[in-house]
Amino acid sequence: MSITQLNINTFRNLESVSTELSNVNIIQGENGSGKTSFLEAIHFLGLGKSFRTHIINRIVSHNADAFSLFANVLDVEQQNKPVGVERSANGRSRMRIAGEDVYSASKLAEVLPLQLLEPHSFSLLEGGPGLRRSFVDWGVFHVEHNFVNVWKNYSRCVKQRNMALRTQCKRDEILSWNAEVIENGLRIDAARKSYIELFCETLYKILPELIDLPNLDIRYYSGWPADKSYEDALTDGFIRDASLGYTQFGPHHADLKIKVGKHPAKEVLSRGQQKLFICAMKIAQGLLFKSVKQKSCIYLLDDLVAELDYLNQGKVLQLLSDQQSQLFITCTDAKTILPHLNTLPSKLLKIRAGNIQ
Ligand SMILES: Nc1ncnc2c1ncn2[C@@H]1O[C@H](COP(=O)(O)OP(=O)(O)O)[C@@H](O)[C@H]1O
Ligand SMILES: [Mg+2]
Repeated sequence: MSITQLNINTFRNLESVSTELSNVNIIQGENGSGKTSFLEAIHFLGLGKSFRTHIINRIVSHNADAFSLFANVLDVEQQNKPVGVERSANGRSRMRIAGEDVYSASKLAEVLPLQLLEPHSFSLLEGGPGLRRSFVDWGVFHVEHNFVNVWKNYSRCVKQRNMALRTQCKRDEILSWNAEVIENGLRIDAARKSYIELFCETLYKILPELIDLPNLDIRYYSGWPADKSYEDALTDGFIRDASLGYTQFGPHHADLKIKVGKHPAKEVLSRGQQKLFICAMKIAQGLLFKSVKQKSCIYLLDDLVAELDYLNQGKVLQLLSDQQSQLFITCTDAKTILPHLNTLPSKLLKIRAGNIQ
């Protein structure tokens, strides 16, 4: 699966870009030329949001009041699927797939499954649990049919329960939300656990090609004490929930606990080792996606050259090209990337002040 044609209009400094694309696309340009914006535009087409900001005004070009994006996506059956997204600074939003309006960004993600590696991705170990939950949920979403709906149901009833806690409703009224919270919460928990099992199998297979971590230990924390059922955790936590005004336990507080030996990986691994490990996680996720869905996801790699040393850039790019994923790689000088790509059909997109040359 790949994007064959991309049009970008008034998106940051990209006023009007229209380009055909290849399997491997190298976006070369000086600092401030628009390389990250190019990847950000693809990200917006695949997820209906940016990885840099939630504020649309920041993204719309200074001299415009809306941006529009269009991609022609060639799926595994060699069918063309046009995807379009428009957003205006005043809140208007439109998403289209194959000529039909869609109203949920999850529809975009199904057509355009993306993996992003940019400088902030490398805080996956050091950052908060929300980052690791998003990582896991990307996989569960793609593998588990209906996960989005279960997640929406769960969020809705936890919000209602929290509202009842905050407004100090009667105990029975608060507890009346428990059954629905538990039912949806346990479905999320089960889906994540089975995904993580498959993910770890894939990760352990490819990890040695990037980094030697014999005592790696990855465990899923469900979001409540491991020695209790979810129901008991909610019952036992009621008094504290009431005083906090929110639900302490559940999949919304889950985490992926990653250790090397007895210690958290973020405390044992060097910065460089953490980056390699995170690359391995993203590669494993793409491989698993491919084996389940029979199609490969698209990788957006921003400033990889600045993050990894030459040898490891080569290893990462080799593993990604083995997956036959479409790649978008930004750099200031393609000479540093090209030797790693030797036989792959690649396209060099030279970008200067928002224009592809
Ligand atoms: N809303 C916007 N309108 C116009 N230009 C913008 C907007 N937001 C950012 N820019 C400019 O876009 C340029 C490209 O940024 P970026 O894509 O991050 O560059 P690169 O990744 O090539 O270093 C920067 O010069 C930035 O100031
Ligand atoms: Mg950049």
